[in-house]
Amino acid sequence: MAYVSLQNLTKLFPNGTKAVDDFSIDVSDGEFLVLVGPSGCGKTTALRMVAGLEEISSGTVSIDGAVVNNVPSRGRDVAMVFQSYALYPHMTVRQNIGYALKVRKMNRGEIASRVDAAAEMLDLTSYLNRRPAQLSGGQRQRVAMGRAIVREPKLYLMDEPLSNLDAKLRVQMRAEIAELQDRLGVTTIYVTHDQVEAMTMGDRVAVMRLGALQQVASPQELYENPANVFVADFIGTPPMNLFHAHVRSEGGQVSLHFGTQTIALPSGLSIASMLSARNGAEIIVGARPESITLSESQGTVPIRAQVKLVEVLGGSALIHFLLEARPMSQDLQSSGVEGAEDTATSLGSRRGSEVLATVPAQSAFRVGEQVALHVPVEALYFFDAMTGSRINL
Ligand SMILES: Nc1ncnc2c1ncn2[C@@H]1O[C@H](COP(=O)(O)OP(=O)(O)OP(=O)(O)O)[C@@H](O)[C@H]1O
Ligand SMILES: [Mg+2]
Repeated sequence: MAYVSLQNLTKLFPNGTKAVDDFSIDVSDGEFLVLVGPSGCGKTTALRMVAGLEEISSGTVSIDGAVVNNVPSRGRDVAMVFQSYALYPHMTVRQNIGYALKVRKMNRGEIASRVDAAAEMLDLTSYLNRRPAQLSGGQRQRVAMGRAIVREPKLYLMDEPLSNLDAKLRVQMRAEIAELQDRLGVTTIYVTHDQVEAMTMGDRVAVMRLGALQQVASPQELYENPANVFVADFIGTPPMNLFHAHVRSEGGQVSLHFGTQTIALPSGLSIASMLSARNGAEIIVGARPESITLSESQGTVPIRAQVKLVEVLGGSALIHFLLEARPMSQDLQSSGVEGAEDTATSLGSRRGSEVLATVPAQSAFRVGEQVALHVPVEALYFFDAMTGSRINL
């Protein structure tokens, strides 16, 4: 068991790439922390610095309060599970799982009992005498986990350990890993680019972008209170609708302008006074697809849009609307990342002025029809158009 502290951790590669940029986070004893972010944002590099496999350019890694920057990997008592777990093909499952212990010259009886316990935990008992080639992908993945578990380290570091599995096995394994970690109580830092995996597994989730920490919070908190437009866009499936608008404040009335529409915000709300200070400024407005309704009610504001596409997904339908508004600028977006690939629908190529709404499946829509969408004002998110920071946090 261990607590881990990363302080101002930075990695500058010799070619000038700043892969990790002033990254600070504290991971508490027994916590399951997920590092998530698009491809190339520095997740693996950060994890390798914690493991002692990558030299630290500046900043510190501490385990249980002791700085380990100069402690070699072997001395850090961490077990790492990589994306490409290479099992030894000529060894049995038992030998594979026990290998690290044998190298450490543990006695044979102790090795056997640890391997048996790990196999039991991972449901591999009946496969101990097989070789990796005789196992399914999920079983092989569990053997790779087994090799980490038998070590009983202070800290687990896992780098996309499920990425080689098909979608169904991945869902099963992520639940098993989360449950196992909970049972063992070993502090774990788990890397993924899949936000669904992050949200379902992590006690807390740290969102990274371009080497820098964007926000670290519980999954629920990230979803409800994203600190900036990048996190808002990255977390949630289907993603938050985001578009540009101008703020106008006249005689105590605050309104939002985009395309040919004007939305008057009810006065007296704290967000109205926050926005009134931004008279004339451009902001980004966000609304989650599930917060959009088709009928007016207390506290909602109307948005006109045209039906573009209807996707029925069993119990609910996802409606794509066209909205006359400038889409969020590309450099603030997180879409196009690999994390989008296994999300529910055809959202991969998201066009900015498109609005998605999740509605009951029986709602009838004709493509091309103009409709009024209704969004509760308190469900709207507002971001600074220049910095992407949340205004109503
Ligand atoms: N040895 C290296 N030399 C130079 N640049 C590197 C090196 N290793 C990684 N990088 C760069 O550092 C950045 C972060 O890479 P890293 O592998 O940490 O990303 P990642 O978040 O793990 O991405 P992925 O989700 O694709 O695995 C990338 O821009 C990458 O090209
Ligand atoms: Mg990586």
